[in-house]
Amino acid sequence: MVERIHSEIVRGWPEADLSRFPVDRFRHLEETGSTNDDLLARARSGGVSPYDLVAAEFQTRGRGRRGDRWEATPGRNLLFSLALPLGGERHLWPRLPHLTAWIVGSAVESILGPGYRLQAKWPNDLLHEGRKLAGILVEIVLAPEPYAIVGIGLNVNLREEELPPDLQPIATSLYELIGCESSRWFLLGQIVQGFLRHYPEKTADFGTVLEWIRPRDFLAGQRLSVRSGRDWFAGYARGIGDDGELLLETGAGDLITIVSAEEIRRE
Ligand code: BTN
Repeated sequence: MVERIHSEIVRGWPEADLSRFPVDRFRHLEETGSTNDDLLARARSGGVSPYDLVAAEFQTRGRGRRGDRWEATPGRNLLFSLALPLGGERHLWPRLPHLTAWIVGSAVESILGPGYRLQAKWPNDLLHEGRKLAGILVEIVLAPEPYAIVGIGLNVNLREEELPPDLQPIATSLYELIGCESSRWFLLGQIVQGFLRHYPEKTADFGTVLEWIRPRDFLAGQRLSVRSGRDWFAGYARGIGDDGELLLETGAGDLITIVSAEEIRRE
């Protein structure tokens, strides 16, 4: 089974990429607690290698940001985590969620075709017309080796009626947008190849990512209340800074940069 899915993932890849993602880098699980937890545990015990990937059909303890639950119907979506080795340049680490949004969003847009444009909701959701299509959870392990565990939940073949009623107006899937099923493994292959090609280079050479994110900035112009640490800031979202920060206009001409936030409320 793992071999079959792996060969679907790498179908069409050039030889150079193939050698960096051999079958023993890939695990496919019918069920797990959380693919992020699986890779975090391996990273903490020193048992992880660059581009290790865990994908699951179902998670019993899937996690979103701020400890939210991430629930998904078995077998319909992509639920996976990827291990990326971190270099010493810590100031580049906050750029990772944006790099991920760019790689995942570009792969999805190439399936959707030119009539569609996704929205990037700072710091790391992908939406279509305000409805969530994908969530990204980046977690860092510092020792024994620094790694980022990049977890992605992407709604691929999910039907709207399979969502809980409260999520139906605010979530969507590729299936709902184009009306037919997509190959989850082909899509995963596009995403993994994106990381193999662009990580870590595009975290330093960040212009391409910003060029993609800025015109898709979902929050731009909206009035927000943002909690960062213990402090709340209120103001209008005024775009994305050069390092991927949220720019917030808090008063006449006062622009602050928010690097990370625990809560964002739209007013
Ligand atoms: C969010 O929107 O808050 C982020 C959601 C991230 C969900 C993915 S699913 C695969 C991986 N494993 C998890 O437990 N979470 C991430």
